[in-house]
Amino acid sequence: MEKKNIDWSNLGFAYVPTDKRFVANFKNGSWDEGALTEDSNIVMSECAGVLQYAQTVFEGMKAYTTEDGRTVIFRPDLNASRFADSAKRLEMPAFPEDKFVEAVVDTVKANAAYVPPYGSGASLYIRPYMFGISPVIGVKPAEEYQFRVFTTPVGPYFKGGVKPLTICVSDFDRAAPHGTGHIKAGLNYAMSLHAIVTAHANGFDENMYLDSATRTKVEETGGANFLFVTKDGTVVTPHSSTILPSITRRSLMYVAEHYLGLKVEERDVYFDEVKDFAECGLCGTAAVISPVGKVVNHGEEICFPSGMEKMGPVTQKLYDTLRGIQMGQIEAPEGWLKVV
Ligand code: PLP
Ligand code: COI
Repeated sequence: MEKKNIDWSNLGFAYVPTDKRFVANFKNGSWDEGALTEDSNIVMSECAGVLQYAQTVFEGMKAYTTEDGRTVIFRPDLNASRFADSAKRLEMPAFPEDKFVEAVVDTVKANAAYVPPYGSGASLYIRPYMFGISPVIGVKPAEEYQFRVFTTPVGPYFKGGVKPLTICVSDFDRAAPHGTGHIKAGLNYAMSLHAIVTAHANGFDENMYLDSATRTKVEETGGANFLFVTKDGTVVTPHSSTILPSITRRSLMYVAEHYLGLKVEERDVYFDEVKDFAECGLCGTAAVISPVGKVVNHGEEICFPSGMEKMGPVTQKLYDTLRGIQMGQIEAPEGWLKVV
């Protein structure tokens, strides 16, 4: 199959429309079959639930070309399940999980010419989402919904690729106890925009959010979970009910334990201990694993021993192993790669 003429190695993380997208509609209490369409525009009521009260949830995953030329999607069943949790929390109808995976596979197949070739460093980002489309003016859930999946070829999320990042401790909170921090709802990202623009204006790549109840514990960034490595090589990740349960993080913790034989801990991580870690990284579908070299808290710098030039050694091993699994060079655990 002929690939599109795209400069794959120089892609950033930006929207490039592809040929087909999937659309299904929920009306009178049920979903229709859905279909692929070429139309990338959406026409809706000025009073649609999504426009007035931000009733929208989404997912993010990637398709890759493996070394032996297959197209694979990384663990879409887990995205389907998290999508269902997100929809439930925002009083939206469930989109059946098997249909979710089917729609994702069909959309990737229909845009096969945009799946970046093996070795390019790029991937096809997949964005499923669902939103209230019928008019809502009193505060209540919409009655009709649309589910869509589009794809877009992407390169690294952070410019500079794998250069260690400098992040700052945010004065803003991301999620409240018993709030929506654990789901993937547009509203969580809308309220993070001021914080990220502020961080960028001050010269930082990202924010480290603390728990809003006590502001003593590390939570996550605007778009990724944290991994830390202790000086004796244990991989530590924050446990919290107000962060997004990252599929990349869960996969990396498995890789650390079962492929690399490392000790792993998912637990409360106090900001006061951050200075004692040897390595720090951000993990997520978009971020993959992006190393952090420095954390700044109101002018006070914490510099990790791994420095500002390259990833720390454990982070590098985690990165190489996960990449190897995604590229089909290292055997994947059962069910991790969905072949398109
Ligand atoms: N945390 C937030 C707030 C995110 O938006 C994302 C991205 O999806 C992640 C963490 C990483 O999750 P995943 O690894 O499932 O992509
Ligand atoms: C992802 O990693 O898929 C996300 O949704 C994060 C987003 C900030 C791009």
